Amino acid sequence: MRLPRSVRDAEAGGKVVLVRADLNVPLEDGRVADDARIRASLPTIELLLERGAREVRVCSHLGRPKTDEDRAKYSIEPVRKRVAELVGDARVTVLENTRFNAGETKNDVGFARELADGCDLYVNDAFGSAHRAHSSTEAVAHLLPAYAGLLLLAELDHLGRLLGDVERPFVIVSGGAKVEDKVAVLTNLGSRADRVLIGGKMAEDVRDENPFPFKALLPVDVVAADSFSSDAETQIAPKPPAGWLGLDIGPATREAFAAALADAKTVFWNGPMGVFEWPQFAQGTFAVAHAVADVDGYTVVGGGDSVRAVQEAGFADRISWISTGGGASLEFLEGKELPGVAAIPTA
Ligand code: 3PG
Ligand code: MG
Repeated sequence: MRLPRSVRDAEAGGKVVLVRADLNVPLEDGRVADDARIRASLPTIELLLERGAREVRVCSHLGRPKTDEDRAKYSIEPVRKRVAELVGDARVTVLENTRFNAGETKNDVGFARELADGCDLYVNDAFGSAHRAHSSTEAVAHLLPAYAGLLLLAELDHLGRLLGDVERPFVIVSGGAKVEDKVAVLTNLGSRADRVLIGGKMAEDVRDENPFPFKALLPVDVVAADSFSSDAETQIAPKPPAGWLGLDIGPATREAFAAALADAKTVFWNGPMGVFEWPQFAQGTFAVAHAVADVDGYTVVGGGDSVRAVQEAGFADRISWISTGGGASLEFLEGKELPGVAAIPTA
């Protein structure tokens, strides 16, 4: 694997450093609802402060703002406040949501120049956004001496262990809603695994026709709901009756999935087994979280929802590596070079 050069090798003393972090965190009532990504970004910021940087200018996108209304909804202000609470050093500033500039997602060099203006160095620590070729993750890396941050390097290191020879059985668990995105990734990645377990919406989509070049373990029962709502009428059934929705894996499937994970030596899990935000559909996802936590081997969980599920289930400290990247970790494991990583010179 091509390794980008590390922020540890940057001469930051007296410099203005532009740091691209992934501070795209969930918000609730104008506050940061989960600050895990912010806390994961702190070691790089703190390292630069220790090294005597004159200013650490942090930038990130937040959400997917499109309309003018979205500008209020996705203001970086709550994030800025949380960063200030956690770091408390006046040399740290947080720029406004990069996606408020229409150039950002087009990888526009003009916007990259605006970001680079007045800065001496660029550090990309935004692993969760490294699969995006945007002004703040790609174009700007060509305008300033560029380095990789500590989180980005740690992610490459931990996820990289799944790329080479892994201890077997290697089990992949996949679920979640973004099915189209994942079928291609799983096609590449799944062939390397000994077992692939599929739950969530993805399972419903592939139940009748297997799009993969391998056999996948699918749910044998589901928690079916008569509507998409937290207090829907439910029943356990082999598959959702006509007009009903499968919103969680059923008890027999939970047991089958736990059994398929029991002797695993390597696990990668992305995507919940159902709508776990609603208690009556959370048991399947929590059961998988438990089974992954019980694995005596190397376990990786990636993606915002799965990470939150592991945390809510109380098993976070029994997982080997919790990735801050969802789409980014999937594309990385597929063997793709991430644009945000490729733009940084090698060590
Ligand atoms: C994420 O949350 O997956 C990353 O921050 C990237 O966000 P995006 O999918 O809106 O580009
Ligand atoms: Mg995403």
